[in-house]
Amino acid sequence: MIIDGAILAAGFGTRMASPLPKVESVVLGETLLSYPWRALLSLGSRLDTIHVVVRPEGFLGDPGLSDPNGRKPAFVVQPVMDGTWGAVEAVAQSKPFRSGKATHLLVVNGDGPLLDESLLERFASLGEALPEALCLATAELADPRGYGRILRNAEGSVIDIREESRASEEEKRIHEVNAGIYLIPREILLSALSRIPPDPVKKERFLTTLVSWVVSHGGAVHTFPMTPECMLGVNTQEELATVTALLRERINRRHMERGVTLWDPARTDIGPRVEIGAGTVVMPQTVLEGATRIGASCRIGMGVHLTDTVAGTKVTVRDFVVATEARLRDGSVIGPFAHLRPGTDLGEESHIGNFVETKKTVVGPKSKVNHLSYLGDAEVGSHTNIGAGTITCNYDGYEKHRTRIGSGVFVGSDTQIVAPVRIGDRSVIAAGSTVTSDVPDDALMLSRASQEIRPEGGARYHRRRGERSANKNGPGAPKKKGQE
Ligand code: UD1
Ligand code: CA
Repeated sequence: MIIDGAILAAGFGTRMASPLPKVESVVLGETLLSYPWRALLSLGSRLDTIHVVVRPEGFLGDPGLSDPNGRKPAFVVQPVMDGTWGAVEAVAQSKPFRSGKATHLLVVNGDGPLLDESLLERFASLGEALPEALCLATAELADPRGYGRILRNAEGSVIDIREESRASEEEKRIHEVNAGIYLIPREILLSALSRIPPDPVKKERFLTTLVSWVVSHGGAVHTFPMTPECMLGVNTQEELATVTALLRERINRRHMERGVTLWDPARTDIGPRVEIGAGTVVMPQTVLEGATRIGASCRIGMGVHLTDTVAGTKVTVRDFVVATEARLRDGSVIGPFAHLRPGTDLGEESHIGNFVETKKTVVGPKSKVNHLSYLGDAEVGSHTNIGAGTITCNYDGYEKHRTRIGSGVFVGSDTQIVAPVRIGDRSVIAAGSTVTSDVPDDALMLSRASQEIRPEGGARYHRRRGERSANKNGPGAPKKKGQE
């Protein structure tokens, strides 16, 4: 038995009332489509080719179909949006399916993000016991509205699926619904090609019509019960919010079971690919998304937003830190209010303080950038202190240039470093300097106007201003009695 997978993702999803195609809607930082994709990937080598049916226009953005093992989807264009059967037919007629050896096609809807991987695995293995049957997953829903109802005969065998649009009042009271997950034997698929008539009301060709077609040709239809939760589909913005809440709960529960402390799981958004080590504490209103990986025993503050960021162990990320594609090594301390842009690599036990922005910058172990600084395209050695208000002037209006700062360096506050430039090991840069050329190791560098003192000059200033000003109580004005 060889199984191909297929995800139906060509529908636009007009009920979402959004200019974005439905399957590109974002749920916890990942596209809706990526959820069934990952569920199918979890079947590993049990699936041969994974087909993804798309609209002729393709996607608006990145559909998010990545795989750590490098597996790629086989895209199939559905030429006209003529319904779910049209989508399956496009797969059956595609070259990869035709030339492949699949005995079965496992079909899932692209808008169902809650598919349970172990249930899916059991469903896929039905093909072993019932190689010739059309298998479909069903669920008992308290509120079956919007779903196709399963019609059974007096013996209890499935005879048809009735879509809501055509269901009678009596049929609408059926709670057993079609989950939108099918295992179709190749033979059935190929013999039904061009034989499924359009729905008389919707004029679309429904994949669900295949059930009555198989029954009328003497074939077997087998149903497999799924949990109501794992089949929920997204057709409206409200349903998108409902599945987001369910996924949040599911993902957060998994992290808590593995020893992660979430102050408030209802207010913490963690994407499905995120990994967190045991003993790590995450405060509320924090968003961890993409391929973010956090080690053990870290503290992640509130309002933190980490995307594709990798943190080691015992890392402290204080409140309101935003980081994208950054690397935070063991024991580093970041924030509050820091912005770490792509290519930031913070060494072990380094410190990044408030209102610091970094981009494509490596900070060595135990170095500190504690206040109000911008480091772009820079390299900082170990044990270096970057004073408050240090700016790397990395952009000359045309190109970006690199700054290299050695180890054991002291950069005084309010220093501008005009790149490209290199500052040697153990050197000292006096506060308020502008560095425009290389500084050798062990040197002291200072570039600022020398200080001038005019005795009593300040007092004269206040007298003059105070006499002319309506505000007689300026900062330096002599205080009247009783005014202290
Ligand atoms: C479908 C089923 C319904 C089932 C429900 C489960 C049909 C006719 N109905 O209804 O019985 O209870 O799923 O969630 O299948 N798509 C295409 N090409 C098209 C039309 C749709 O690829 O021409 C894709 C969509 O992108 C979507 C999936 O097929 O991912 C399902 O389509 P949708 O319109 O959402 O079907 P439902 O009305 O929800
Ligand atoms: Ca749907």
